Formats: sequence, structure tokens, C-alpha cells
Amino acid sequence: MKFFVDTADIDAIAELNDLGMVDGVTTNPSLIKKSGRDILEVTKEICDMVDGPVSAEVIALKAEDMIAEGRKLAEIAENIAVKVPLTWDGLKACKVLSDEGKMVNVTLCFSANQALLAAKAGATFISPFIGRLDDLNMDGLDLIADIREIYDNYGFETNILAASIRTANHMSECAKIGADVATAPPAVIKAMANHILTDKGLDQFVKDAAEAKIKIL
Ligand code: G3P
Repeated sequence: MKFFVDTADIDAIAELNDLGMVDGVTTNPSLIKKSGRDILEVTKEICDMVDGPVSAEVIALKAEDMIAEGRKLAEIAENIAVKVPLTWDGLKACKVLSDEGKMVNVTLCFSANQALLAAKAGATFISPFIGRLDDLNMDGLDLIADIREIYDNYGFETNILAASIRTANHMSECAKIGADVATAPPAVIKAMANHILTDKGLDQFVKDAAEAKIKIL
């Protein structure tokens, strides 16, 4: 499973990128707002740093405007994936931009039917939002499993990009289901390293090393 980082924070991306943890980046208008940066400038900086796809989202609601914005975003760099919302207009924009050879990420997906439509419209990525379904007392991971089954039934090549990931557990569950990509905030990716028994075991090793006066350097 590929790891995308869901942020527009350059320093956070750089830290994970140096560790080889970054296969791509996803942004959205909320994350651009949080960065306090100009969308074109910050997106260009991310594209220069990361080899994989960098999703940049349109803000228009009508297909023709989304297409114009998508073309402008795609000019930033070759690794831009234009992000469009899963609306009927978004699907129209997806088809046009995909036919032009651009990568398209269809976002705000909350049902298997929406994912089926995005695949038919030629999406490179479909972004089902796990956490926001969980917030409504539904099971976001079930949606990932349903889309995996449907895409595999028919050989759709659209990549399942699990999004709205809130916990480290979401990451391993997505990997078990077979999501192609999971995009998560930097803090969630770092939290994957944590285990209470690791901390407990290390405390004991540190104590024993001190008592035995072990020295290596
Ligand atoms: O990838 C989508 C993500 O940014 C939304 O996450 O936590 O706001 O639902 P969240």
C-alpha cells in the first residue's frame, strides 16, 4: 500500500519524505487554508520535493470551470493529480481531464455507487472518506472493502485512495483490505510506530544497561 501524506505543511512532508515514507501528497482547500500559503506556490514547492502524485483540488462547482482550474493546476508540475468533487459536474470534469492524459483524483466519495461512477469516468484515484463515515456511526472501512470488491470484479484500474484517515488502526485495516493508497495526516503516520510494549520493553533495557554499565561507544 502506498502512503500519501494528507497535508500542505512543507516541513512535515519533508520529514517523512527523508525517511522514504512519502509516495505522494494530498491537499484540499481546508489544508491549503491551514498552511496560510498561496495554493499555486505551496503546491509547486510540494511537487518539487515529492516524486509521486500531488493532489491539488479545484474550487469551482461547474464542470467547465473545474476543467479550466484543473488545466491550470496541472501546469504546476507533471506530478499533479487534479482533485475534483464527486458530483455530476465533477464526473464530467474527470472525464475531460482524464481524456487529456491528466491524473484525476475524485474526492468526497461516500458510497460504492459513487466509486463505480468515478471509475467509469476514468478517475486515476477515488478517495472514499473513512473517518467522516465513522463520525456518523457508519463503518468507513466497509466502504473501502466494497469498492475493492467491485473494482476487482470488473478489473477497474482506478486506484482506491483511502482518505479521512484518523487513526493508525485505519492504516493497517486499509492495508488488509487492499486499498492501493492511504492518505493520512503526518501525526497518524508517526503514530503507527507506537506500541505500549515497545515503550515498556525499552524502559527495561535502558534500566538493565545502566545497571550492567554496558557501553558501546
Ligand atoms: O483526505 C481527506 C481529508 O483531508 C479529510 O479528513 O479528517 O477532515 O475528514 P478529515
